[in-house]
Amino acid sequence: MPDMTQHQRLLIIDFGSQVTQLIARRLRELNIYCEIHPYQNVSPAFLTDFAPQAVILSGGPDSVTREGSTRAPENLWTMGVPVFGICYGQQVMMQQLGGNVEAGHHAEYGRAYVTPAPGHKKDGIFAGLSDREQVWMSHGDRVTQLAPGFEVVGTSPNAPYAITADEGRGFYAVQFHPEVHHTPNGKQMLENFTRMAGFTGDWTMAAYKDEAIRKIREQVGDKKVICGLSGGVDSSVAAVLIHEAIGDQLTCVFVDHGLLRQNEAEEVVSMFRDNYNIPLIHADEADLFIGALEGVSDPEVKRKTIGKLFIDVFQKYANEIEGAEFLAQGTLYPDVIESVSFSGGPSVTIKSHHNVGGLPEKMGLKLVEPLRELFKDEVRALGRELGLPDKFIGRHPFPGPGLAIRCPGEITRDKLDILRKADAVFIDQIRQHGLYDEIWQAFVAILPVRTVGVMGDGRTYDYACALRAVTSVDGMTADYYPFSHDFLGETATRIINEVKGINRVTYDITSKPPGTIEWE
Ligand code: XMP
Repeated sequence: MPDMTQHQRLLIIDFGSQVTQLIARRLRELNIYCEIHPYQNVSPAFLTDFAPQAVILSGGPDSVTREGSTRAPENLWTMGVPVFGICYGQQVMMQQLGGNVEAGHHAEYGRAYVTPAPGHKKDGIFAGLSDREQVWMSHGDRVTQLAPGFEVVGTSPNAPYAITADEGRGFYAVQFHPEVHHTPNGKQMLENFTRMAGFTGDWTMAAYKDEAIRKIREQVGDKKVICGLSGGVDSSVAAVLIHEAIGDQLTCVFVDHGLLRQNEAEEVVSMFRDNYNIPLIHADEADLFIGALEGVSDPEVKRKTIGKLFIDVFQKYANEIEGAEFLAQGTLYPDVIESVSFSGGPSVTIKSHHNVGGLPEKMGLKLVEPLRELFKDEVRALGRELGLPDKFIGRHPFPGPGLAIRCPGEITRDKLDILRKADAVFIDQIRQHGLYDEIWQAFVAILPVRTVGVMGDGRTYDYACALRAVTSVDGMTADYYPFSHDFLGETATRIINEVKGINRVTYDITSKPPGTIEWE
């Protein structure tokens, strides 16, 4: 059942497009509260219950000309709510309202330019747009006859029905994807639609925070909550938010696997214990983890060993907290969105490193997930709203298995110590040069190879290391950061001078793909 909020609500019906999430993203940027639900879940009753102020129909891989293809619930068209159809959503709209769609032979992919039809220049869906807007097409079928009541609002050379509308009913349907980056002013079109639908942009982070606190209190009552802290932004923001809601009913468990960066464990402990006064168990289990990793070189075995131990350790400490009924997790929206899969029904993807496996069931705990509705940068905004320091909120991502996957080959304490020091120098260099916020992620990997060098009058035989720094939007693709040669030279000199055990520094200039960001 949908979660009732006091805000104006928009429903996105997902027909399985790869970019449905981006529709939500754009709406959030417009301070509009929306939820994505797969078409299978949107029954007429659900729709009535959800009571959206407007509905957007996503694109999707199906063809409306296929027997038994997917549709919107019939009551959508009679409930007096504005509807915006995108690509497959446009075809669904035309088909259900009495127009016609033809299959095949009309495929169009990529860039196109849309021009307003006569009489549709500076108002309605075109408000604030130019006479020639770049849009992104990606469709196989196309509309060949409009449904009664619709007219053409915009055309492109290959798409006579690029933008169509029944303005009286507030129905708009476009053949392209306004939500993607390659439709540069697509957000303006969505804004025009939502403005015409009466949205005022009432979904702010301050309002979200108050509402989240109220909901946590309602859900938890006077019971106790356990929260696993990783030191990352998501679990930290979740913990501070829950603490603000229920105070000392929350206890945090920080599993310190000994694979964190320099001073990281101390910083996490002091921030939570001293600054926020949040009850915190510091599970210092470095010996256990590093002992188990000794002699292990295979990257997958490293990851599995760490993942399994993490769950065991968390459970051991959590069991010490008497009477806990809830487990808090920093699960984000992209982790929980149900995507429509045409091969096997709806699927749910959950980030494996941020949750604690099957623990909730195993321990009989219920989940509290106060960030479930947020995207990553919204979590950061909420963190700021809660007063977490900027320096903390803006930190580069750090992987769950920690330094273990930045130490190809065998892991030893000695190598980890060297790696921590080199990493700290590299990050210090980046901060000193004012580059930290331009870079998505930066770190050092210590290589399983020793090389010969000369320092002073002596021969050295020490480890080589690789610097890694990338730009990225979401970690899925990445490019290496183009440091100046001066910066690289200065950093290499500092690392070799300041870090005993390293006598050679290289810079990794592999993009992703074909490389990954981490070395393992
Ligand atoms: P790759 O190396 O796959 O990394 O290009 C993409 C992003 O994900 C992070 N990463 C992880 N994060 N647990 C995590 O919490 C993991 O097991 C893990 N593996 C990779 C990586 O740091 C980068 O930001």
